[in-house]
Amino acid sequence: MSDSAVRAAFAFQANWARTLGAPFTERLIVAVAGVIDGSTAVGARVLGWPGEPVADALVLRLLGGLNALVRAGALPRLAAAYPPNPLPEHDFIAGRVAAALADPRLLPWLDSPPQTNEVGRSGVLMPGLMAIAAATGLPLRLFELGASAGLNLRLDHYGYDFNGLTVGPADAAVRLVPAWSGSPPPDVPVAVVARAGVDRAPVDLRRDADRLLAYVWPDQPDRVARLDAAIAAFLADPVPIVGADAADWVEDQVALLPGTATVVLHSIAFQYFPAASQARIAKHMEALGAAATVAAPLAWLRFEFETAADLPTLRLRLWPDGEDRLLARAHPHGASVAWLG
Ligand SMILES: C[S@@+](CC[C@H](N)C(=O)[O-])C[C@H]1O[C@@H](n2cnc3c(N)ncnc32)[C@H](O)[C@@H]1O
Repeated sequence: MSDSAVRAAFAFQANWARTLGAPFTERLIVAVAGVIDGSTAVGARVLGWPGEPVADALVLRLLGGLNALVRAGALPRLAAAYPPNPLPEHDFIAGRVAAALADPRLLPWLDSPPQTNEVGRSGVLMPGLMAIAAATGLPLRLFELGASAGLNLRLDHYGYDFNGLTVGPADAAVRLVPAWSGSPPPDVPVAVVARAGVDRAPVDLRRDADRLLAYVWPDQPDRVARLDAAIAAFLADPVPIVGADAADWVEDQVALLPGTATVVLHSIAFQYFPAASQARIAKHMEALGAAATVAAPLAWLRFEFETAADLPTLRLRLWPDGEDRLLARAHPHGASVAWLG
């Protein structure tokens, strides 16, 4: 891959940061792009990247590394340019980051793609569970695919305000208030009686919490605080996440149980599964759906991108009738929800 493709990836990512309202991150990316050269091991590796820089999230790998070292107190001179300090002038941040790029501790961060677990998506999935509870009147068993660290599997422990409809424990450590449009979700209590998750590369929060936090941009303090709170709550009451391919796990684990609604759910994950796994999951769901009854229903709740250009959708397929409903369109991090259900 050419140096110019890498430079284009910096421009692309800076543009995204601007679009997402992250001015420090935009300025940091512009500064890195201006000073990076082949004179450091990090610069040489980045500029000589053999893969697809945008698809490989190369810039985000580097930002994650810088943020991790700043958060750990290992780059105090660069930290002086980071939030909560005021937005730095270009020359100030460029000088500081040029020195930081000589740090070999950044190299391992280039080895693997960012790992994320966006708690804000619970604010999209929870109304979906409310729709399932309303339709079935049964307690739910949750099976999450591509669960990452598993933070969204504890969604019933979070507090919500859906345009004035408050849901969840009043003293919840995590509170989500998405900007809501459309009618409210069904005001029905959700009882989760079992939960389990799978991920090809699960994040073990006992070891990797700092890594997960490093990928949240430092000028998004609300997301950082929310993730921090969700991690602490998870560590006090963990959910085991199995390391496996989602299709293997679905075939092995997901079965109907009378008296409960069996719920398979996933958010911004299905697109990453191999096509063969996607097909096997769909086949297993169809087979289970054919056996589902009113006393043992099956739900498939998906918050996924349908096209790259549009907001992701929340869809629910519910058996025994097998009807598929478009419940919502929502911001990818759950910042806003347009309820259509
Ligand atoms: C973008 S992350 C989303 C994580 C989480 N669902 C969320 O909304 O925060 C996608 C996740 O899918 C997982 N994944 C990718 N391929 C997989 C597979 N074949 N089986 C299980 N998980 C997979 C990744 O490891 C990653 O954790």
